[in-house]
Amino acid sequence: MKTIDLRSDTVTRPTPEMRQIMAEAVVGDDVLGDDPTVKQLESYVADLFEKEASLYCPSGTMANQISLKVHTLERGWELLCDRECHVVNYEVAGPVVHSGLLVNLLTTERGMITAEMVRSNIRQINLHCPRTKLVALENTHNRHGGTILPQEEVVKVREVCDEFDLKLHLDGARIWNAHAANGIPLPELTRPFHSVSVCLSKGLGAPIGSMILGPATFIEKCRRERKLFGGGMRQVGIIAAAGLHVVQNNIPRLVEDHETARYLAHSLNQFETFEVNLERVETNIVVANIVDGRNSQEVGDILKSVDVWALPFDKTTLRFVTHLDVSQSDCEEAMERLHTVLK
Ligand SMILES: Cc1ncc(COP(=O)(O)O)c(C=O)c1O
Repeated sequence: MKTIDLRSDTVTRPTPEMRQIMAEAVVGDDVLGDDPTVKQLESYVADLFEKEASLYCPSGTMANQISLKVHTLERGWELLCDRECHVVNYEVAGPVVHSGLLVNLLTTERGMITAEMVRSNIRQINLHCPRTKLVALENTHNRHGGTILPQEEVVKVREVCDEFDLKLHLDGARIWNAHAANGIPLPELTRPFHSVSVCLSKGLGAPIGSMILGPATFIEKCRRERKLFGGGMRQVGIIAAAGLHVVQNNIPRLVEDHETARYLAHSLNQFETFEVNLERVETNIVVANIVDGRNSQEVGDILKSVDVWALPFDKTTLRFVTHLDVSQSDCEEAMERLHTVLK
């Protein structure tokens, strides 16, 4: 039985075409600054987002943490972010370990910290208080179920940041999905941010790689930090070629993943085991609540027994993510298999 792997959009395998492109990539030494394929990728992605420069990084985690570190001029500064954000929940304790940041976790409805929330959480400047200096947003928002941030509110957040001299970072690992779903151009989605990280290895389907985007002076500082993180890579055009290939070809097809996710959400709702808030399914992530008294590990194991893989997210939620390597008919097949083991 073929495994239908819905754990994450990071599980995609390189296609034969991608492997061919990688095999033929022209390479140099990127630490010495002369890998032509990496240079091509960096300038292509910077142009795509209308940013001055971009930097190729091994992972989204490194791209986020380098960005936060370069913004942080003093240890003990405070970062405002959503309680469920990736930067805090899944990057070990990066903000404190790398940058000495104090994190203030704000509780939000769908991952959006409003301008008013930022304003009311900025601390007084006095002898006693930490200095509130950074805000990080995530679009689309993973733990909130792939939700898209409202762009007009993002713009207002930037205005408050300017008023109080705060830096605004975007974890845009899945910004491509927001763009595919709401049609707002990538430059407009990312214009309000001082820095942006984007992943090539999620919905776009590259095996490795993320980019930091921002002003040229910021990116040069990030390059030095990347070296400090041990992320300077040599003949890395081999993988950058795959990144360039996916960014040039795989953005428009993300709408297919969103349709498949909606199909999946509706279908899961037919089972007594699951309850999915359909209003939350805006992109390629479906978070299903388990409402039959079992926990996510138990239900995940039942699904696994018929080779359908989902990710236990919390004790009572399972995450299903659609991607390049699962079609609508794979998901139909997955639902048929679930009918054999669930009511
Ligand atoms: C929203 C978000 N940001 C950042 C990352 C980090 O990416 P990586 O796994 O490449 O470190 C992920 C990974 O799943 C993510 O979902």
